[in-house]
Amino acid sequence: MNRDRLRATYDRLAPGYDRSVGLGERLLLGDLRRAYGAALRGETLEVAVGSGLNLPHYSAAVTRSVGVDLSGGMLARAHDRARELARPITLVQADAQRLPFPDASFDTVSVSLALCTVPDPAAALREIARVCRPEGRVVLLEHVRSPVAPVAALERLLSPFQERFIGCHLTRATLKTAESLGFTVRSERTRMFGIFRLAVASPPARRAAGLSPGVGGAKA
Ligand SMILES: C[S@@+](CC[C@H](N)C(=O)[O-])C[C@H]1O[C@@H](n2cnc3c(N)ncnc32)[C@H](O)[C@@H]1O
Repeated sequence: MNRDRLRATYDRLAPGYDRSVGLGERLLLGDLRRAYGAALRGETLEVAVGSGLNLPHYSAAVTRSVGVDLSGGMLARAHDRARELARPITLVQADAQRLPFPDASFDTVSVSLALCTVPDPAAALREIARVCRPEGRVVLLEHVRSPVAPVAALERLLSPFQERFIGCHLTRATLKTAESLGFTVRSERTRMFGIFRLAVASPPARRAAGLSPGVGGAKA
């Protein structure tokens, strides 16, 4: 699904998004959202922040937060949630594949359940690497192709429907893509036959990620 269709799709889904993922997500993810929130530190950028479902899990270790998303509808939900939680966050409508921030702007850059949807996940990962400080951390909570063959076969079967209706790919090997770009996974937790993965990683050295050493070095 291209960017414009994704934006329109998530604008349409936004009002009912939290309800639609509610119980199913709690059963599938267990405490991974809480662990994701606990891994965020310092000046934090959440890429594809959606309706802000992770905001309740941010800890006091987050000193400043910024969220970006393609969909204005999802950002409006995130804005309401942040206000209810009295949690200050700057929300920006932007494409994960071209983040509107200078190099090395954040201590933590995070993304959850969205690299399955972003049209070019490698481009988004390069941008994540670019805006993360070299000594910072990248926190990824994603669903990926399962290492268990029958489960992966089921994902292959279902993926075309998900792709068609919500732009979500079930068979991406997102963590492998990240490692191939030079990210180093420092810790990892998995759930549900290895489908859901929470990884805390170090960003790649700038050249390994295909980034120029100067400002605005994204290669996307
Ligand atoms: C399945 S939702 C996940 C939202 C949120 N991260 C969560 O965990 O609930 C996918 C989100 O990715 C956003 N998205 C898709 N492609 C994007 C892109 N290229 N740039 C920024 N956001 C994007 C959608 O608008 C949507 O909010």
